[in-house]
Amino acid sequence: MSDNRLTITDHRTGAQYEVPIVDGNIRATDLRKIKVQPDEFGMMTYDPAYLNTASCRSAITFIDGDIGILRYRGYPIEELAEKCSFLEVAWLLMRGELPTKIELECWEQRVMRHCMIHETSKKFLEGFRYNAHPMTMLISTTAALSTVYPEAKDIHDPVNRERQSVRLLAKMPTIAAYSYRHAFGLPYIYPDKTKSFTANFMHMLWSMVEPKFIDDPTIARVLDILFILHADHEQNCSTATMRQVGSSQADPYLSVAAAAAALSGPLHGGANEAVLIMLDEIGTKANVPAYIEKVKKGEVKLMGFGHRVYKNYDPRARIIKWAADEVFKITGVNHRIEVALELERIALQDEYFVGRKLYPNVDFYSGIIYQAMGFRPDLFTVLFAIPRVVGWLAQWEEMITDKEQKIARPRQVYTGYDERHFIPMEDRKPTTDLG
Ligand code: SDX
Repeated sequence: MSDNRLTITDHRTGAQYEVPIVDGNIRATDLRKIKVQPDEFGMMTYDPAYLNTASCRSAITFIDGDIGILRYRGYPIEELAEKCSFLEVAWLLMRGELPTKIELECWEQRVMRHCMIHETSKKFLEGFRYNAHPMTMLISTTAALSTVYPEAKDIHDPVNRERQSVRLLAKMPTIAAYSYRHAFGLPYIYPDKTKSFTANFMHMLWSMVEPKFIDDPTIARVLDILFILHADHEQNCSTATMRQVGSSQADPYLSVAAAAAALSGPLHGGANEAVLIMLDEIGTKANVPAYIEKVKKGEVKLMGFGHRVYKNYDPRARIIKWAADEVFKITGVNHRIEVALELERIALQDEYFVGRKLYPNVDFYSGIIYQAMGFRPDLFTVLFAIPRVVGWLAQWEEMITDKEQKIARPRQVYTGYDERHFIPMEDRKPTTDLG
């Protein structure tokens, strides 16, 4: 069938309209010609929360939510998680192809060279209270880096964009580690660029009195895999925020800070921390049925379950479950995994969840692993932001170089008053009960 067009009949006027179909979709602006009166604005689509609206064309990540497929630049996430390092995947997402051996070696050296943060940024971190949430510290300090690199505002220069992107990728783990150590009043540990990206992060987090942190290679590899799984996920809430803020030509530090703010919400990247709080609230396997009933009554959400796109098992959750077993071989199994497995077992056979296609998502097991690896729950969303900065930057670069894109400004359906006129103070009626 080659006739790629939609014929729309407006029964208000009897008029018919032809709308071209491209890639199986129509352009919303093609509907503007549908009017009753010629001086009208024309028809729009109304789509709160963008449930059925594509905001861009992208070649970075492909998801098929019905059959649980996730690919970065065409490569299945399962193969990348098994065979690549995180920095290798970061190159793939940002450059479009897997790096050669020499490209990867140069890339690793380049990123590790930029891990230090300016000494003034450390003083900025000192301004936070001891109990400040690390995610808020990360968001604020990332935005503050915009003052350290004012040249980042020249977003039209591709060389400059690439340099700032490498700085952001390299400095997120350092800011994260310093935010964590600030909470304990511990001295900051400078990056060790002889270590891998992930092992260096653990070194900056946990090196205490011993001169060199002895990182367990299995734990470091599992964290690398978790970073790969979290690197990008097409137009999720935080990536859409990165594109929206970046579309005004704000610099990448401020755009990443905005994206990280979106990620921090409990419905998005904050879910992994919320899962652990939920598991601790449930306490034991015996309490699971009662909690499930609370969920079904709508009193609480089953955190770590459900997804806007995946209406089948999130392929990342399956890999994370494998990684959990590897970690528990080292750390020992904690009771939370037993509660989580019981929650999953019951939910996957309960019509409430099956009927709504609610399956475990990436956040359901990640919190349990992170806690077993020694991370505090308030660091979990920071652990999501560190790798996700790669996706945000790759999508930002794609948006800036996309000739179809311009400043993002949605329309609205106005539901307020028609024109009305000023009311003198003495004639106004109270709208609140001031008791
Ligand atoms: C991430 O978008 C991405 O790609 C995000 C992400 C990424 O990599 O960037 O994958 C990472 O954010 C994963 C999601 C982490 N969030 C959580 O685990 C929080 C709990 N999940 C829910 O809040 C919810 O499932 C969302 C936010 C994830 C998705 O919400 P939707 O698509 O708007 O679905 P919905 O709220 O319209 O729910 C449909 C129905 C509703 O029931 P009814 O009103 O039809 O009776 O399912 C119910 C919801 O009440 N429902 C849940 C539920 N999620 C949906 N009921 C109980 N527990 C849940 N978790």
